[in-house]
Amino acid sequence: MALLRLDIYAVRNIHKATIKPSPTINFLYGENGSGKSALLEAIFLLGRARSFRTSAIKSVININEKQLTVSGVAVQGNGNMLSLGLQMTDKECIIHINHNATQKRSELAYTLPLQIIHPKSYELLDASGQIRREFLDWGIFNSSDSFLLVWRRFKKALAYRNFLLKKNELNQLGVWSNELITYGSQVNNFREQYLSKLQPVFMSFCQKILGLDSIELNWLSGWGNSASYSQAIADDLSKDLRYGFTHSGPQRGDFQILLDGSLAKNYVSRGQLKLLVVSLLLAQVQLLINEGGNPPCMLIDDFAAELDRRHREKILKCLVDMNCQVFMTAIEMVDFGSLDSVENYKMFHVEHGNVTSV
Ligand SMILES: Nc1ncnc2c1ncn2[C@@H]1O[C@H](COP(=O)(O)OP(=O)(O)OP(=O)(O)O)[C@@H](O)[C@H]1O
Ligand SMILES: [Mg+2]
Repeated sequence: MALLRLDIYAVRNIHKATIKPSPTINFLYGENGSGKSALLEAIFLLGRARSFRTSAIKSVININEKQLTVSGVAVQGNGNMLSLGLQMTDKECIIHINHNATQKRSELAYTLPLQIIHPKSYELLDASGQIRREFLDWGIFNSSDSFLLVWRRFKKALAYRNFLLKKNELNQLGVWSNELITYGSQVNNFREQYLSKLQPVFMSFCQKILGLDSIELNWLSGWGNSASYSQAIADDLSKDLRYGFTHSGPQRGDFQILLDGSLAKNYVSRGQLKLLVVSLLLAQVQLLINEGGNPPCMLIDDFAAELDRRHREKILKCLVDMNCQVFMTAIEMVDFGSLDSVENYKMFHVEHGNVTSV
């Protein structure tokens, strides 16, 4: 999937901008506050109908306007062209795919898969497990049609079971526990299998970018040492009733990165932690490409921040080899490094919310 045209109205300080991006790498540079992140935010809105920076959409809409609009024309891997459009006010969101209105954000996400690397992405290895579960689920969602349904059934069963536990209503508990065990086990299997497919691709990026060989991904099911999810649900029953919620399950699933058998995040430097996160996010996109899925468009904000020139060059080389569409930002053009090996790229200058092709 590559965007060939993008029209933006009233996204932060961008009043109106039209760009015709390259299907390969697009570089965006400009001073602080010029609107680079706003442009990536507009693309992200078009693929996810939400911002990557805030949940308050009002702050994304230009201060003098009541609604924002982002539309685009994209070409899919099979050569089909399609148009996408999104209008948002602080109360309403209207999505169009090929001029057909839809309410489903998931449809948009399938149509324009996006991977983003921005300064907060580095929390992936630092913050709570929720962000890592979302990371895994994004990869599975884009590679398996059946996952979303299973995931929704699991969420529903968990919510019902927790409701019953809280109210101490026991007559329906068995039914919802069984439902939870069925779909929770499936969600766990999806995630565990996905992580094992991701592992060799991730190792290859760690080797290329960080020069590390002895790295592995370790899956942690959300039920400790219990033999199965049904066993954990049975063992936890009195605890679940006492506290009024379900202790074990995929809502607790997680993974760790081990370096020579120890937790990598306790050992590596801050810059290396970022490079591990970049390797994970690139691996996820590469896996999708390897499996013949709809190749995602990559958004990389503040490319140069905290990374030295040698590592930036390595990342750029990986991106060129991956052959997917990329939008990356930096303050100065030189921050992108040497572009000699990058074919068909486009360079854009962003200044006071205006975007010009250089
Ligand atoms: N709702 C809004 N309406 C108008 N302008 C806004 C709105 N929200 C933010 N801005 C302004 O938009 C400008 C662009 O912000 P943006 O975050 O895109 O800058 P940037 O080019 O990424 O800068 P940096 O290099 O510092 O990351 C900022 O000056 C910001 O104050
Ligand atoms: Mg920015």
